[in-house]
Amino acid sequence: MKNQKNSRTTGNNHSEIDFQTKCVHSGINDNEYGSVIPPICQTSTFKFKSAEHGAALFAGEEKGYIYSRMLNPTVEAMENAIAELEGGHKALGCASGMAAAHTIFASLLSAGDHVVCSSAVYGPTSTLLNTVMKKFGVETSFIDSANLQEVESAIKPNTKLVFVETPGNPTLCISDIRGISKIAHKNNSIIAVDNTFMSPALQNPLTLGADIVMHSLTKFLNGHADVVGGIVVVKDEETYKLFRKTLNQTGGVIDPFNSFLVHRGLKTLHLRMEKHCSNAQKVAEWLEKHPLVKELRFPGSKSHPQYETGLKQQKGPGGLITFEVDGGLEAGRVLMNSVNLCTLAVSLGGVETLIQHPASMTHFTMGKEAREAAGISDGLVRLSVGIEKAEDIISDLKQALNKVKDLHFHPADIK
Ligand SMILES: Cc1ncc(COP(=O)(O)O)c(C=O)c1O
Repeated sequence: MKNQKNSRTTGNNHSEIDFQTKCVHSGINDNEYGSVIPPICQTSTFKFKSAEHGAALFAGEEKGYIYSRMLNPTVEAMENAIAELEGGHKALGCASGMAAAHTIFASLLSAGDHVVCSSAVYGPTSTLLNTVMKKFGVETSFIDSANLQEVESAIKPNTKLVFVETPGNPTLCISDIRGISKIAHKNNSIIAVDNTFMSPALQNPLTLGADIVMHSLTKFLNGHADVVGGIVVVKDEETYKLFRKTLNQTGGVIDPFNSFLVHRGLKTLHLRMEKHCSNAQKVAEWLEKHPLVKELRFPGSKSHPQYETGLKQQKGPGGLITFEVDGGLEAGRVLMNSVNLCTLAVSLGGVETLIQHPASMTHFTMGKEAREAAGISDGLVRLSVGIEKAEDIISDLKQALNKVKDLHFHPADIK
C-alpha cells in the first residue's frame, strides 16, 4: 500500500473538499486487495525482496516498510488522514497523548532551553516538563496563556518553545493562538498547540499560525473510549524527519490495531463533534440556572471570560463543562457518587458522558500550589458531555443535584 498517492481526497483538488467529506475519505488509498477500508497490517517486520533491497531501504534509496516501530502502513494511513484534517504536512502516531507531548519536547529541546507553557494544561504535561525535562536541564515558565502580556513577558532569549493548550484542561480558559504565534515567532520560538479539547473539526491551530499541533487520540479523534494514542502534526518535511527520528529512537509509537480504530473513529468525527457541542450547550444552559451550580465554565456561554476569543478561532464550544457545586468538595463528591447515566471516570471526548474531579484525579500530580495557580480549585467538577439524548443527561444531573440539595437541608430547618 502506498499512502497519499491515489488517496481519495488528495487525488482531487484538495482545498475544494469539505471537512465532512475529508473525515470519511482521508488517508484511504487504493490497495492491492481492493479493500474499501485499509487492512490492519498487524506485523512487526516486513520481508525484503533481496539483501540489496533491504540495504537500499535502510539507506533511504528506496521507499518501503522495514519494521513497524519505524513505519507501518495502517499507522501511516491514520497519520495521513489526521495530517489532512489538521491541514498539516505529515503526522506521527504515538502510543499516547503523553508520548506525543514527549516527542515534541525531546525533539526540540536541549539542556539550557526554556519553555513557556500554559498553566492550565493536562496535569501530566506540566509534570513531564517539571520533572523529566527539568532533569535534562530544560526550564519551564507556567503562565496564564489567555493573557498575551503574560506570554510576552515570560519569553526569554533562550525560549525555544511556547506550548499552549486551548481550551485548557480543566479550566477551559481560551488562549489566542494567532496572538501567541505572533509573539513566539517575533522571538524565534516555536509554538505547539495541544488541540485535544477541540479536534480539527472545531479548531485548526496550523491555520492560525501555530507550527505544531498535538492531540491525545484517546479523546475526540478516536471518540469511543477504547484506544490510548497520540499524534503530532507538523508543517514541513524537515520537522517531520527530526520528530520521526526521535520517535523511532524513543519507541513510543502507536500500534496498527489502535491506528485502525482511530481511523474508523475519524469517519464520524464531524457528526460526533456537532452533537457534543449541541448537547454541551443544552447541559451548560441548564446547569447555569441551577441554584447549586457556581462558577460554570463553558466556551459556548457568554459568561466565559474569553468567549470572544473562542468565537474568533473555534467553530464550536466543544463538549467540556466545568463547574463548582455549592458546598465545595463534599458536595462535589455527593454529585459524582449519585450520577447513574453519567459515568464517574477520567478521560473525555468519548460518546458517553463522563464526570470527574480534577484536584483528586487528572491534576493530582501537579500539587495543590500549582493547581491553585492554574485556577483548579478543590471543588471543581469536570463534565465531558457525550452524544446521548441531552435531556437524559440533564435528568441524571438533576436527580444527582437533588441529593446534594439534601446535604444543605439541615434538620434544624424542619419547622
Ligand atoms: C488535553 C490533553 N492532552 C494530553 C493528554 C494526554 O493524553 P493520553 O492520556 O492519551 O496520554 C490528555 C489526557 O487526558 C489531555 O486531556
